[in-house]
Amino acid sequence: MTMTDAANDANADVLVVFGITGDLARVMTFRSLYRLERRGLLDCPIVGVAVDDWTIDQLVERARASIVATGEQLDDAVFARFAARLSYVQGDFADDATYARVGAAIGSAKTPVFYLEIPPSLFATVVKGLADAGLTKHGRVVIEKPFGHDLKSARALAAELHQHIDESQIFRIDHYLGKMGLEEILYLRFGNTMLEPVWNRNYVECVQITMAEDFGVSDRGHFYDPVGALRDVVVNHLMQVFAAVAMEAPAHGDLDTVKDLQTLLYRATREADPQHYVRGQFDGYREIDGVAAESTTETFCALRLEVENWRWSGVPFFIRTGKLLPETQTEVRLVFKPSPNLGFGLRDADSQPDQLVMRLDPSTGMRILLNAQRADAPKPSLVSLDMEFAAEGGEGPTPYEVLLLAALRGGRARFGRQDTIEAAWRVMQPLVDNPSPIHAYAPGTWGPAEADALVAEHGGWRGPWL
Ligand code: BG6
Repeated sequence: MTMTDAANDANADVLVVFGITGDLARVMTFRSLYRLERRGLLDCPIVGVAVDDWTIDQLVERARASIVATGEQLDDAVFARFAARLSYVQGDFADDATYARVGAAIGSAKTPVFYLEIPPSLFATVVKGLADAGLTKHGRVVIEKPFGHDLKSARALAAELHQHIDESQIFRIDHYLGKMGLEEILYLRFGNTMLEPVWNRNYVECVQITMAEDFGVSDRGHFYDPVGALRDVVVNHLMQVFAAVAMEAPAHGDLDTVKDLQTLLYRATREADPQHYVRGQFDGYREIDGVAAESTTETFCALRLEVENWRWSGVPFFIRTGKLLPETQTEVRLVFKPSPNLGFGLRDADSQPDQLVMRLDPSTGMRILLNAQRADAPKPSLVSLDMEFAAEGGEGPTPYEVLLLAALRGGRARFGRQDTIEAAWRVMQPLVDNPSPIHAYAPGTWGPAEADALVAEHGGWRGPWL
């Protein structure tokens, strides 16, 4: 299934990056653009905009150092081609003169892409500045999460942006939409007669989504403390994973069909119940720079979702994520219903149900766990059939490469649509309004014990597949 998007797909003739001197550019943007250059996929100038008083040489040097720091092997000829595209505009985002200078820098470009890697509180200011300077007519504006901190603020942000640009011009980044694994799930589900018929409540006991990270929030305390795990990764990234695993099959690959199905799934999902929501905070979190001394922000959360439709009614979806857990691993796991015993001892109290695991991070792969008879065991036990996608099809591009290229080409399928984002917030809003108490957990553990109780009736958390 190729997700296509017929409208608004002219190639960009300039990329303007607001906030190019910032952290995200250093860690992600330069590297991704450099990799696109290496693949011969960049074909427009790049204008950086920021408040810092930098020369172009400083910017080029920052680009080089950033790319090298990500571990990328720098090819001088490729880098020279990339550096030749760069120019720099210094300016305050609240000052009209900045947009006049941006206008001069992009010259006669007809399809500019403005990438706003800046704090969300500045989105509206920059979009207004661009629109007032007459630069957004055929342009696209790419923005980074968070898109609001709850349903109301998500709507307010969209309303502010819509005063100046149309919804079709807004490209909201959720880097999970650039991950190869997400697309793999759709291909596997809908490209295989062996899988689709069992992908429902007749066969599936529960679905478990785990996003574990073995690192903390280090220097991101200021960003993380007002946000927390639910807003940082659940309402966006993990809801994308949930959609890929639970939505209906698109009958057409266009943007709207896929997004419509995703939105319909969220609408069929009951508002999350705070009774089935566990929040944890790792010991030592409150000592981090930028974190409030009495912070009750969750660095771990686990919750249960329920979908009321023919495919999923009665099948709980459990989601858990946390910082400073024992591993870094993201996966989706379908746990199937137990087979019948058939009276000749196939099953006992230790028997495990079949499971199908799709791993999204750090690499992509699929594992099927089946009960099989082995010479060394008296009764059937689980055997695993594993497949690493990289071993079959090679390593894919990084998410930001995928997304920046899609923005340059006008492929909106890779970006969030406002109604889908609002539908996801509707599901999560009760948890935002009534956060459950916070439980401490020790770094390097799987979060507070209360999270286990959430899944106890369904055999506990399984995995992840390491
Ligand atoms: C970001 C969050 O959006 O996603 C981080 O702000 C998180 O807290 C990161 O660590 C995870 O991304 P990935 O691609 O490593 O799964």
